[in-house]
Amino acid sequence: MKIKDKKILIIIGGGIAAYKSLDLIRLLKKNNNEVKTILTKSGKEFVTPLSVSTLTRSKTFENIFDKDSEVEIDHISLSRWADLIIVLPTTANFMTKLCLGKAEDLATTVILASNKDILLVPAMNVRMWIHKATQQNVKILKDYGYLFIGPEKGEMACGEYGEGKMSSPRQIFSFIEKYFNKKNIIKSKNLKALVTAGPTREYLDPVRYISNESSGKQGFEIAEALSRLGIKTTLITGPSNLSSKKGIKTKKIITANEMYEEVKKCLPVDIAVCAAAVADFKPIKKSKIKIKKSKINFKSIELEKNRDIVEFLGKNNKHRPSLVIGFAAETENLNKNAFSKLRQKNCDLIVANDVSKKDSGLNSDYNRVSIIDNSGKIKVIKKSRKSFIANIIAEIVLDKLLINDRSFN
Ligand code: CTP
Repeated sequence: MKIKDKKILIIIGGGIAAYKSLDLIRLLKKNNNEVKTILTKSGKEFVTPLSVSTLTRSKTFENIFDKDSEVEIDHISLSRWADLIIVLPTTANFMTKLCLGKAEDLATTVILASNKDILLVPAMNVRMWIHKATQQNVKILKDYGYLFIGPEKGEMACGEYGEGKMSSPRQIFSFIEKYFNKKNIIKSKNLKALVTAGPTREYLDPVRYISNESSGKQGFEIAEALSRLGIKTTLITGPSNLSSKKGIKTKKIITANEMYEEVKKCLPVDIAVCAAAVADFKPIKKSKIKIKKSKINFKSIELEKNRDIVEFLGKNNKHRPSLVIGFAAETENLNKNAFSKLRQKNCDLIVANDVSKKDSGLNSDYNRVSIIDNSGKIKVIKKSRKSFIANIIAEIVLDKLLINDRSFN
């Protein structure tokens, strides 16, 4: 489906490929979209404000706190105005600035202040692109949620051949079309998700409990990634120091039983992601008063099993979500154990979580996971930030849900 009536802000960066921004503007305008532009200082070396504003039929913005521009639209409103922001071409230097969170000119300030998706279109010499520093920056920016298209392989302006050539205006235009189509489908389907996160606590008395090391981080990041895609997301979390982002409905619980009750209240949903480290057992008896140590039986505590929430969802006859995603915290036989949990709990996907290493997993910003589907296909993700893994999970969720939707693609 062709896009129209979208508001696109194009930031024209400093590189020889900047001239291609004119073609993209023409394509967008031809399809009745509104385009505003920011011309960076180095972008101005490659295209002129006159050629840009002739095509956009509006002035180009150049300087922050420029009296005339700020009266027309200030830098914050400019970032709010856009439905999508595109940086074209994105140079290696510009990526470094974004990684550092710089706000040194109009372009970087608008980006830092933005609450919209930002599409980066890299273009640079092949050596610059494959340099470890640039690749590290790409990882960081993907982790921050920036979208990327390209670069492509081909002959570059400098005469060398390789990866670094900017995607063509046609390719970028078709990326933008897919992006908005996806958003429209999510909106029209009114997709809903629930995510469980964090530990639960199972009390022996008012002050003593059984729990685990979970920080809730992976679940919070997944809720955020799903919500960013436009999916209405409810987060049900055990005790955690984290706070969820605006727009995510958050329910705080303490015990596994409370989590189960909240999950039930949340149904029906399209997607359930159970990232919580739910305590498997609870003490059979909970004392109303603090148990005196002289009265504690140190030899044994009688426990009973908690309800398995993800299994309840996976095997739910009435309200089974279209996608049920479980986690599997394992210290050995990662994929094998995880796959049998997927089968046992009737999940569609399971995220096998290697919790044997000290530098990732529970209570860390990092994770090492394998994402396994119900045919046993495995996608391994090496040690990465939990936010990065969350974005991958969210994209997989979306692809799975939309794969049969012919209005997409
Ligand atoms: N889970 C759940 N409710 C429970 C226990 C676990 O929903 N009462 C979910 C977790 O959120 C996770 C999955 O089940 O999505 C697997 O949890 P995990 O702790 O890895 O495995 P268990 O099923 O508890 O099995 P074990 O402890 O024997 O490995």
